[in-house]
Amino acid sequence: MTIALNHPLNPKAEIPLYSPQGNECALFESAWTRQLPVLLKGPTGCGKTRFVHHMAARLGLPVSTVSCHDDLTAADLTGRYLLKGGETVWVDGPLTRAVRNGGVCYLDEIVEARKDVAVVLHPLTDDRRILPLERTGEILEAQSAFMVVVSYNPGYQNLMKALKPSTRQRFISIEFDFLPREKEIATVAIESGLPEGKVAPLVDLARRLRNLKGQDLEEGVSTRLLIYCATLVDAGMPVSDAVRAAIIEPLTDDADVKAALLEVAKATLA
Ligand SMILES: Nc1ncnc2c1ncn2[C@@H]1O[C@H](COP(=O)(O)OP(=O)(O)O)[C@@H](O)[C@H]1O
Ligand SMILES: [Mg+2]
Repeated sequence: MTIALNHPLNPKAEIPLYSPQGNECALFESAWTRQLPVLLKGPTGCGKTRFVHHMAARLGLPVSTVSCHDDLTAADLTGRYLLKGGETVWVDGPLTRAVRNGGVCYLDEIVEARKDVAVVLHPLTDDRRILPLERTGEILEAQSAFMVVVSYNPGYQNLMKALKPSTRQRFISIEFDFLPREKEIATVAIESGLPEGKVAPLVDLARRLRNLKGQDLEEGVSTRLLIYCATLVDAGMPVSDAVRAAIIEPLTDDADVKAALLEVAKATLA
């Protein structure tokens, strides 16, 4: 089965800006035309969500995003019976709606969800492409224009929460990392409004701090934090205040680590 590009489910969507890291756009398009599910992996704030919205808009598809969390169950995705005016009526969840109507269903941080979520995804992510709804007795066949995309961050998960091979082997996987220096400078400048010349030292600081990851820090400075920092500077905050509020404080609560990071910041931005 091959699906046309530019499926007109969401024809007027504006295409959010996205600066590619490699061949991910071509991979996503091929996965879409051949109805393959996609898994995006990479650190937080490196552009995974932006990529999904960019590609969906390019392909003319609506996106329904589900941020997964500890309490998220299969019923939150598929739907449930609700009381409405004295009657119980079945209400589709976001996954069921996408299966019926087409579009991208994007499950962000999939490993956070309860185990029964993976069970619901299995028959949808192989060649059956079906969603059995136990509660209503229906077996829904996914619309040709339905696509599952999931994301996860391999960095901070403990072993208990690693994605099971039986689930991960159902997806085309695309690895994301932070953009190369020049592209990250351009992206942060566009998103924040701060000129590239002023963004460059902030990106250089982020790159230095990312090298410390693993020693004292769980996660490196994300592009998202860099954009916050540059936005504060663009709004008139002194660079040192912006760096502390948007880069150092979000990274750590440990006073010693904070002091060390501030030293690195001082040395880099001097
Ligand atoms: N490659 C990129 N192109 C354009 N913007 C990007 C890119 N990578 C990151 N960004 C910016 O960083 C922000 C955070 O990225 P996001 O997609 O939310 O990260 P993730 O989903 O990986 O946590 C986005 O809102 C966007 O402004
Ligand atoms: Mg995201």
